[in-house]
Amino acid sequence: MADSTALNFALIIGSTRPNRFADVPARWIAEAAAERSDFTLEILDLRDWPLPFFDQPTSPARAGGDYSNPAVARWRDRVREFDGFIATAAEYNHGPTAVLKNALDTAYTEWNKKPIGFVGYGGVGGARAVEQLRMVAVELQMAPVMRAVHIGLEPSLGVMLHGKALDDYPYLAESRTAMFDQLVWWGSALKGAREAAALAEAIAA
Ligand SMILES: Cc1cc2nc3c(=O)[nH]c(=O)nc-3n(C[C@H](O)[C@H](O)[C@H](O)COP(=O)(O)O)c2cc1C
Repeated sequence: MADSTALNFALIIGSTRPNRFADVPARWIAEAAAERSDFTLEILDLRDWPLPFFDQPTSPARAGGDYSNPAVARWRDRVREFDGFIATAAEYNHGPTAVLKNALDTAYTEWNKKPIGFVGYGGVGGARAVEQLRMVAVELQMAPVMRAVHIGLEPSLGVMLHGKALDDYPYLAESRTAMFDQLVWWGSALKGAREAAALAEAIAA
């Protein structure tokens, strides 16, 4: 149960195809997050956010938050509410899913100065997609945390073919806790810094 000072995080489900595996790690992350008192976790399922393939006349980094498409404006408003993010990261051809990259590209200031952690899966635990996503996150002025969950081939096949659950692999739960802890540390530090900067700006105005 979250306390009143809890950070507000979102879990972005980063693939949208039918039969996606993403629901398995998303549920497993959400279940563990519900036990935490230091943050809350809301789900942002990209299936519920049918964003246009990037169509804005100006880069979000230069638009100052002025987005012409209402669907984009809604996404921007939703992203702005959160203190940090976790994204499920499927690996498609050694990179992130296009739908997740598009969702990241579609906002800018709303991502700035917030932490993000990744739950990768695939043949090598989504490691290649996660590494690319970390570089994208830096460009969005985010703080990608060092710890991540990497669900490799064995647990993926265990779940898909042999009736296993992710909880049958204790090293995954250890990574999940470490990622949560790092998100809370960075989330608190950056929230404080954002608030201090906003106050200084208000005083100077
Ligand atoms: C277009 C496409 C490309 C893929 N490329 C990779 C890859 O490069 N590396 C990998 O480990 N798995 C790859 N896979 C397998 C995915 O890891 C696997 O299908 C996973 O379930 C995809 O996540 P999703 O089910 O949430 O969409 C690929 C799957 C698709 C559909």
